[in-house]
Order: sequence, then C-alpha cells, then structure tokens
Amino acid sequence: MEFIKVNKAYVKHIALIQLNRPKELNALNLQLMGEIRDNLKELDQDDEVRVIIITGDERAFAAGADIKQMAGKSTIDMWKVDQFSTWDQINKTRKPIIAAVSGFALGGGCELAMTCDMIVASETAQFGQPEIKIGVMPGAGGTQRLTKALGKAKAMELVLTGKFISAEEAYDYGLVNKVVPTEVYLKETVALASEIAAMSPIAVQMAKEAVKRSFEVPLEEGLHFERKNFYMLFSSEDQKEGMNAFVEKRKPDFKGR
Ligand code: CAA
Repeated sequence: MEFIKVNKAYVKHIALIQLNRPKELNALNLQLMGEIRDNLKELDQDDEVRVIIITGDERAFAAGADIKQMAGKSTIDMWKVDQFSTWDQINKTRKPIIAAVSGFALGGGCELAMTCDMIVASETAQFGQPEIKIGVMPGAGGTQRLTKALGKAKAMELVLTGKFISAEEAYDYGLVNKVVPTEVYLKETVALASEIAAMSPIAVQMAKEAVKRSFEVPLEEGLHFERKNFYMLFSSEDQKEGMNAFVEKRKPDFKGR
C-alpha cells in the first residue's frame, strides 16, 4: 500500500486506516481510494475486527479528490474510470466506521467523513464542499448527505459558495458526534470505538443496517426491516449471553456468534 497505512489491531477489535499523503493534504487519488476499498473489504471479513476508524493527520483529514489527477480529464475519461464506484464499498461495509477528523475535510474529504457512520472532530477540523470554486460540484454524495445532515438552507449555502464550517458549527448542526482537543482526537475516537466494540458485533451490525435503512425507505418499510433484524438477533448466542448476563448481574462477554 502506497497511500494508506492499515493497522488491523490498533487496539483490540479496532482497526485503523490512516490516509498517508500528508504533503498533498491526503488528496484522494484513484489509487488511495482503491486501497481503502480493498482494505475495508478485507477488514469487514475479519472476525477480530469489530470497528474501523478512518483518519488522516492533524493538518488534514483529506482536502478532497485529487484535483491534479482530474484536471485534464474528459467526461468519457471520468465515466470510464468511474472513480466513485470505489466509494460504494464504504457504504456497503457492515462494520461501523468512525471518521477521526482533524484539519481540512473538504470536497471528497468531507464526503468520505460523511460516508462513515460517525465523526469525531478535533477543534481544528473544517468541513466544506468547495468544488463550486473549481467549476464543478460534489460528486461523492455531498449534495445528498450534507443536506440530510445540515438541512437545505445551510447545505445549499456551503455547496453554492464553497465556504467551510468549523468543527463547532458542524457539531451544532449534528454533522459530527463530538468535538475534542486536537491532541486527543484519535484517542477519543478509539474510546468511542471501544465502547461499540464491547457490544455484540452481530447486534451492532444489524442495528447499523437498520439505522442506515431509515435514509433509504419510508417509515413503514423501515420499521418492518428493523423488526426483522430484531427478531433475527434471537438466533445469536450473543443475545442469550447479553440477556443472561443482565439477569445474573454480570458483564456480558460477546463472542460475535
Ligand atoms: N488535490 C490535489 N492536491 C491538493 C488538493 C487536492 N484536492 N488539496 C491540496 N492539494 C495540494 C496542493 O496542491 C499543495 O501541493 P503543492 O505543495 O505541490 O503545491 C499541497 O496539497 C498543500 O496545499 P496548499 O499549499 O494549497 O495548502 P494551504 O494550506 O494553502 O490550503 C486548502 C489548504 C485550503 C485545503 C487548499 O489546498 C485547497 O483549497 N485545496 C483544494 C480543496 C478542494 O477544492 N477540494 C475539492 C476537490 S474536488 C472533489 O473533492 C470532488 C468530489 O466531490 C469527490
């Protein structure tokens, strides 16, 4: 791997993917996104991994898709490469993914963070969709996910002016889960990941699936989907362990079965 670093066991049950193009502010070129896709696929299959963290570095989570790589491309070049198809794997990943964001999360970087399930932001984080300033528009979900998170008026402002919002503002809008001092943003993300990793991984993945479904389908269908997942969990050993542990007044030990 040239553009990311992966640690499958950063902490017990937690894998870390770190974008590693610091000089280019972690601009997301095709190869980097391919590396993310391939590694997410692998980590999703690895029973030891329960939660995945994606991070950049202090200065930048990612400053967007690689403008230099795209600058000379034609429509047909873009269509052939279909760069956003590599992003589908992020959305398909069953395990929870948390973005640990410091510095710039712009364009594709903001979209990458929003495609994750949760965002922990350092107080220096800045979010934005500045594509309009380079004559295009968001292409990896920005117009949809930002609008769902911020509402129409604010999303429209960001997408049409390219201006950034601070971590605090992003928190106020519900885009990020929490804002923490820069020195501890990764540590705080690991703490959140560890809380989730202590739960039944099957229940976590089915719950994640149901929450995500609420964005796709009408309420009735979402409720039906939720109920099916809820009932399905009663065939897991973890459900017996979780409920027995409660009755026996002890901590559950979930095995992911
Ligand atoms: N693509 C390619 N290279 C990038 C980049 C990007 N998105 N963002 C930054 N870089 C490179 C710069 O070209 C520069 O490289 P050189 O040293 O070789 O010149 C290096 O990273 C450092 O950047 P700056 O010198 O510009 O740093 P700065 O602190 O002055 O500014 C910034 C930081 C405001 C983030 C500025 O770099 C910037 O505006 N970057 C582009 C942001 C952007 O427009 N993102 C959207 C991209 S399109 C997209 O993402 C489409 C989509 O929907 C997927």
